[in-house]
Amino acid sequence: MSSPLAKDKKSFFDKLLIKFHKNASHSNRIGMLSGLFTQEIQNLAIEKETISLLDIGCGDMKITKVLSEQNSQLEATGVDIYPNTQNWENYVSFDGKTLPFEDKSFDIVLFSDVLHHDEEHIDQLLKEAKRVSNFIIIKDHFEYGFFSRTLLQLADIVGNYGYGVSIPKRYFTKKRFQEILKKQQLTEIKQLCPVYLYNHLPLVPYIFKGKYQFVSVIKT
Ligand SMILES: C[S@@+](CC[C@H](N)C(=O)[O-])C[C@H]1O[C@@H](n2cnc3c(N)ncnc32)[C@H](O)[C@@H]1O
Repeated sequence: MSSPLAKDKKSFFDKLLIKFHKNASHSNRIGMLSGLFTQEIQNLAIEKETISLLDIGCGDMKITKVLSEQNSQLEATGVDIYPNTQNWENYVSFDGKTLPFEDKSFDIVLFSDVLHHDEEHIDQLLKEAKRVSNFIIIKDHFEYGFFSRTLLQLADIVGNYGYGVSIPKRYFTKKRFQEILKKQQLTEIKQLCPVYLYNHLPLVPYIFKGKYQFVSVIKT
């Protein structure tokens, strides 16, 4: 993740978790994912001078900012559910349900590890993303049963608990993800799975498998 806006007062344990997570994986994850998203944005071959991207659930805005730096064509806006206490530019706070933007006002919407954090509003968020954009890029997790779900929950505790972001009870299965897309009449044009984010860490790739991560590119 993560979202420094999420928790006003952080305990000693929160700070310890945040430090551990930053050292172990956060910077690497940001670099890997930004590179991957940049590639997929370029693959869309949108023929416009300026490409607008809305990063929904932008957290600490790191990915939003790196994407803008990597693509001079890109104008990126971040939205999340917390007030903008850091006075970030291009950040808009919203209620987590209804986007305060006109229909088709963005070329691309990005959800990077967001949807599994708000099970209740997945349909609503996708509906809104479809309304405001032409393409949606989703990075999320696939679970395959109790073992993978528990591992993903543990990883979410390390990455998010310190910031006060809620830990999901379940993740997408491949089947449920397709059912959700079908329900929203969204067309997946590409899916990347496995995605290897933790190959730089000893032993972790053997346990936290690439097939637990996916990126889906969708035409709205
Ligand atoms: C794991 S963090 C991901 C942050 C960032 N996208 C990244 O990949 O580094 C999940 C983010 O989703 C946000 N979130 C949760 N529910 C949301 C909702 N309904 N609408 C928008 N953002 C939401 C949280 O506040 C948090 O910042």
